[in-house]
Amino acid sequence: MTALDSRPLAPEDVRGLIRPDRVHGSVYTSPEVFALEMRRIYREGWVYVAHESEVPEAGDYVTRRIGGDPLIIARGRDGQVRVLHNRCAHRGNRLCSADRGNANSFRCHYHGWTFGNDGSLVAVPMKDGYADRLDDVKDRLGLAPAARVDSYRGFVFASLEGTDISLAEHLGRATGAIDRLCDLSPTGELTLTAGWMKHYNRCNWKMIMENNVDGYHALFTHKSVYDAVRPAKVSHVPSKVQVLVRDLGGGHTEIDYAEEYTRLDEEFVWFGRAPRESMPEYIAAMEAAYGPERTHRTLVLGPPHTLIFPNLFLAELNIMMVEPLAPGETVAHYTPALLDGAPEMNRKALRRTEGALGPAGFLLADDGEIAERNQRGLAAHQPEWLELSRGVESDIANETGTVNYDKSAETPQRGFWKQWQSVMGEAK
Ligand code: FES
Ligand code: FE
Repeated sequence: MTALDSRPLAPEDVRGLIRPDRVHGSVYTSPEVFALEMRRIYREGWVYVAHESEVPEAGDYVTRRIGGDPLIIARGRDGQVRVLHNRCAHRGNRLCSADRGNANSFRCHYHGWTFGNDGSLVAVPMKDGYADRLDDVKDRLGLAPAARVDSYRGFVFASLEGTDISLAEHLGRATGAIDRLCDLSPTGELTLTAGWMKHYNRCNWKMIMENNVDGYHALFTHKSVYDAVRPAKVSHVPSKVQVLVRDLGGGHTEIDYAEEYTRLDEEFVWFGRAPRESMPEYIAAMEAAYGPERTHRTLVLGPPHTLIFPNLFLAELNIMMVEPLAPGETVAHYTPALLDGAPEMNRKALRRTEGALGPAGFLLADDGEIAERNQRGLAAHQPEWLELSRGVESDIANETGTVNYDKSAETPQRGFWKQWQSVMGEAK
């Protein structure tokens, strides 16, 4: 693999870094691999960029960085949500520096060009300098839009440079996980309005994403949690419970407690076994919307624990998106998945988010530390490969994807890497 150091990556180089049951260490450390990921996965493919509830009113915007590209996601006067490159079309200044706000237009700090929130160039100071070419300049020099934008139940995705497949094709079976989350709201809507917590980690972005669906590490990485708090909602010893891991296809993967919860047939096992009497308005709103039977089933099943390739994680009642900065640097963004029309649930959910994921939280600190140690370990070049064969003999292909009834199986990791290899190793 020394070839990686000396010449640009060819598709066959990339394909050689992944085997069905292991991956080469350089996929986490190589600048060439990282540069190719940003192009193939983050700029050409579909990536999650924002949620419609973050920009509910005309003029609302948020800024994001996707694959290194700064973006503005703005709702125009026409109600449309646009994804625009946050780069002045004159000489490249970053146009908007705020995380979020409301503006009908953005004025560049450098020479004062003004762009509408639909991306059009609306004003150029001292316009005489362009003589009779001003209209032409205005037509040509709007903010560059993402090539494709589409959404599913409020989750907005973009392909910055364009891809042949539709969002529906990209999401495939993963739409079921989004449905499962939205169905917990009596209106079927989420409101991601609590703000985002940002965790900076000195590790590769894929370590964080893979760990999200790793059912093997909890007893060890989170030992202090189990020592400190009362027993977990269900046993984490894999052989005792019907918890499965699943490769949904397309790099989307999950840990699924549905069968275990269905067997228990008890509501809110996933929510600290909160009694339904503690949320009478929520229960009433759910039953009014869906009827008692479906409400019971929804509250037994709870939210998904699903990675949506490449950068979105439905973390039960939280949403996480990952922002790669460099091969060994990542920002992970978290926000609680607040349910529209469910203030009682949301109050409790907020406290749980703070406890698990906040700056003084007890769960995420463990995962962040282990990811950084992982990156440091990979500075050693031997052994060259990371082993992902756990449970390969007990993978079962069925109509839901590839499942494994051993929660500790590395089935999700194998699914993630299969997609990575197909996108990154495609000859173009
Ligand atoms: Fe924006 Fe000149 S770079 S106006
Ligand atoms: Fe963890």
